[in-house]
Amino acid sequence: MVNQTSGVLYGLGVGPGDPELLTLKAVRLLNECAVVAYPAPETGAGLAWEIAKPHLSASPEVLPLRLPISVDPFPAQQAYDDAAESLATRLTSGKSVAVLCEGDPLFYGSFMYLLERLSGKFRIEVVPGVSSPMACAAALGWPLVAHNELLTVLPGPLPEAELESRLQAPGVFVLMKVGRHFTKLRDLLNRCDLADDACYVEHATRPDQRVLPLDEVDPETVPYFSMILARRA
Ligand SMILES: C[S@@+](CC[C@H](N)C(=O)[O-])C[C@H]1O[C@@H](n2cnc3c(N)ncnc32)[C@H](O)[C@@H]1O
Repeated sequence: MVNQTSGVLYGLGVGPGDPELLTLKAVRLLNECAVVAYPAPETGAGLAWEIAKPHLSASPEVLPLRLPISVDPFPAQQAYDDAAESLATRLTSGKSVAVLCEGDPLFYGSFMYLLERLSGKFRIEVVPGVSSPMACAAALGWPLVAHNELLTVLPGPLPEAELESRLQAPGVFVLMKVGRHFTKLRDLLNRCDLADDACYVEHATRPDQRVLPLDEVDPETVPYFSMILARRA
C-alpha cells in the first residue's frame, strides 16, 4: 500500500546531453526535491548529473547510485536492491527524491528497475525527457518516421540472427547501444542493403557530437553513447 505521508519519488528525464534540453518541469523538481540521486559509475559522476548540474540552484542531498551502466540481459540485482533501499529510507522520512535519468526514464532507462522495486510502496511520478532517437534524428536533420512508416528499435547486443531477421522489415531502424557491437551492426546493414542509407551519431547534442557515414567510423573509437539510424527506402 502506498504511504501517503512519505516523500514522492520523481524519475526525471534530463535529455540526451545538452543541458538546454531539460524540460521546465524537470528543472523545477530538481530544485524542489530534498534529495537528488543519479546513476553513476564505480568512480566519478554520472552523465545525468553532468547534464542537470548547471540548473541546480538549491542545496539538496546529492546521492550517487553506484549502478552498472549496462549489464545485459539483466541489471545487477544487488546494486539495484541497495539503491532502492537507500531511496526508500529517504522517502519514508518524508523527503522527496529526484532520480536523474539520461534521455527518457522509461526508454531503456535504468530508472525502471528502481520503479519496479518501489512502486506500490511510494508515490512515484515520471517526468519524460527528450530521448536519444529524437536527438539523433535532429542531429541528422532526418524525419525519424514519416506518414505511415514503421519504426523498429534494435539494441545492438541482440544476437546477430535476430537482428538480421528484424532488419528485413520495411521502414526506419534505430540501432541502440552500438559501442563494441559497431562492426557486427555495420556488416549486417551491408548484408541487408541498408548501409547506404544509414548514418552514425555519437554523443548527440553534446559539444563532442559526431555524425558520420558508416564507412568513416573507426570501430575502435565507438563509445557507448552512439546510435545508427537506417531507412529502407
Ligand atoms: C541505456 S540506453 C538509454 C536511453 C535513454 N534513456 C534515452 O531515452 O535515450 C543507452 C543508449 O542510448 C543511446 N543514446 C543515449 N544518449 C545518446 C546520445 N546523446 N547520442 C547517441 N546515442 C545516445 C545509445 O545507443 C546508448 O547506448
